[in-house]
Amino acid sequence: MNHELQRGFIIMLTVTGLSKTYGRQILFDNVSFSINPGERIGLTGRNGSGKTTLFRLMLGEEEPDSGEIRIPNGYTVQYLSQHINFTKSSVLEEACLDLKAAEDGRDETYRVKSILSGLGFSQSEFHRNPRHLSGGFQVRLNLAKILASEPNLLLLDEPTNYLDIVSVRWLIQFLRTWKDELILITHDRTFMNSVTTHTMGIHRQSIRKIAGSTEKLYQQIIQDEEVCEKTRANDERKTKEIELFVNRFRAQASRAKAVQSKIRMLEKREKREKLTELPELDFTFNPAPFPGKWLVEADDVSFSFSDDALPLIHAFKIAVKKNDRIAIIGKNGKGKTTLLNLLAGEFQPGQGEIRYNQNLKLAYFGQTNVARLDPDKTVLEEVLNAHPAHSLGSARGICGSMMFDGDNALKKVSVLSGGEKSRVLIGKLLVSPANLILLDEPDNHLDTESIDSLIAAVDTFTGAVLFVTHSEMILRAIATRLIVFDNGKISVFEGTYDEFLERIGWEDEKSIAKTTNEKTIEPQNKVSRKDMRRVRARLIESRSKVLGPLQQEIESLEKAITRLENRIEDDNQSLIRASNVGDGRTITSLSISIHNSKIEIERLFDELDRLAGEHHRKSMEFEEQFNALEQV
Ligand SMILES: Nc1ncnc2c1ncn2[C@@H]1O[C@H](COP(=O)(O)OP(=O)(O)OP(=O)(O)O)[C@@H](O)[C@H]1O
Ligand SMILES: [Mg+2]
Repeated sequence: MNHELQRGFIIMLTVTGLSKTYGRQILFDNVSFSINPGERIGLTGRNGSGKTTLFRLMLGEEEPDSGEIRIPNGYTVQYLSQHINFTKSSVLEEACLDLKAAEDGRDETYRVKSILSGLGFSQSEFHRNPRHLSGGFQVRLNLAKILASEPNLLLLDEPTNYLDIVSVRWLIQFLRTWKDELILITHDRTFMNSVTTHTMGIHRQSIRKIAGSTEKLYQQIIQDEEVCEKTRANDERKTKEIELFVNRFRAQASRAKAVQSKIRMLEKREKREKLTELPELDFTFNPAPFPGKWLVEADDVSFSFSDDALPLIHAFKIAVKKNDRIAIIGKNGKGKTTLLNLLAGEFQPGQGEIRYNQNLKLAYFGQTNVARLDPDKTVLEEVLNAHPAHSLGSARGICGSMMFDGDNALKKVSVLSGGEKSRVLIGKLLVSPANLILLDEPDNHLDTESIDSLIAAVDTFTGAVLFVTHSEMILRAIATRLIVFDNGKISVFEGTYDEFLERIGWEDEKSIAKTTNEKTIEPQNKVSRKDMRRVRARLIESRSKVLGPLQQEIESLEKAITRLENRIEDDNQSLIRASNVGDGRTITSLSISIHNSKIEIERLFDELDRLAGEHHRKSMEFEEQFNALEQV
């Protein structure tokens, strides 16, 4: 069945009377909803509420206890998993894995290549081993795989985990132009609201769907719960009144009839349960005393993965103080995790030295540690494992504060949701006292309420915290110093994230350029004309070194945009011809090509914008320096 015919459906997917339990845990109780054409739905709910499970039910990977999910014939559903699992040895092969075999045996790899390029992979990366990619690029590869298979319904489970701010922007643009249906799970509400038309929330074992944003949904839920609570309190008061009546007049024969009828009323009354409080994560880190001042000092540290590659980290210096709150920020694949690994002593620097205070007690929440959890162990065993000498009682206590109380502590890691796994990792950190905590994107997978608890715990911790996050909300709430990976450099910024944005900003080397150039100009006051000329010549040289390549990049971007615009023009002409003869297949493939070109143009324009801005800033700086030179 071709695509055009499918769009004739009125309802794409219907769920009726769906129930699902795991043991004593009820996830869904008699849930019904449907998905209509063109809807982009945000799916929200606390960690462990069953979002991923709902996807698995839709895909038929999991059976409901009762109820059904109906999907029209020929309607295809694809899933971006929260967990990453690669089987091929190259990026390109992996991306081609889910390609539908083309009916005429055409080679479709070119299309996959263009999707990969759109997602920021360079040609040379096509042959890399997917497992060697950084977390962010692994997510992009997963996404490329699915986009290549062109489903009707796209299911995305937390696609922004491990994605940097720039890639998230790209993804928003892409998803907003998605022509069919999609359901998106993310704990990032801003991201969700900028992509979706509808919101669906899992709350107290049921599902509610509305047109509009998450805020609207949660407002409705709060209102309903208030009404529900008022009705319950009212009911309770009435029941009490009836009971009083019955007790008072029970003994009077003249009222026997009335009493009997009241008793029947009582029996018929349904008792409304008070809504239970939803559990919240509540914990503090376990502080180790620290008598000194500096915990760790990195001195001119450089590191690269291979000898011929440019160093990922070059001449890096920092001293970490007792109460520091340092955020490490920068795009995917720039070396943030590597830096944490160096500071944690898991990698050795190629050059320079890292000195540790003898009283240092370190705890490390690694980005890949989720994968190190043993699927066959229980939550309790994992926590005990972090420190075998620990008593069972205190391990139970830690499980409880991570919301695994009672039998929940005996759940196997293999069945845990993404957020639950993150909570196990935090629990393991709490076992041993620490005075330096390293956190690598701890907020991935955690729901908003849990992120608030995490921030509160960091706030009250007496030791130092070094963390990587892409969440601007967390950066603002915690960071007082920054390690910035930007424009191929790594530098320390003494200030908050807002101060950084205000004074420096991303992709802006102003301060660095200034300091180096100031050094050249400094000895001007007492120099001879000859020296002045030399300085001027050097300045001209350095201007063309800086502006030349920028100009070249700008020109090649402009050419690429013109090429793409011409291609769209040609495609449009062909599209008219194909429409005239009713060639459905060509129409589809041309529409895709036009769509992809538009997205690529959008990306190139963004890049152009950035480069033009940088070119302008740099030119102004040189201008100022020439002026300064004139005045000497
Ligand atoms: N096979 C299973 N056996 C037992 N319990 C399970 C199984 N699969 C999932 N669960 C439990 O069901 C609940 C829902 O899991 P699910 O992965 O759907 O949550 P989620 O809403 O996606 O959460 P998160 O936001 O953390 O990703 C969790 O408490 C999980 O531990
Ligand atoms: Mg999940």
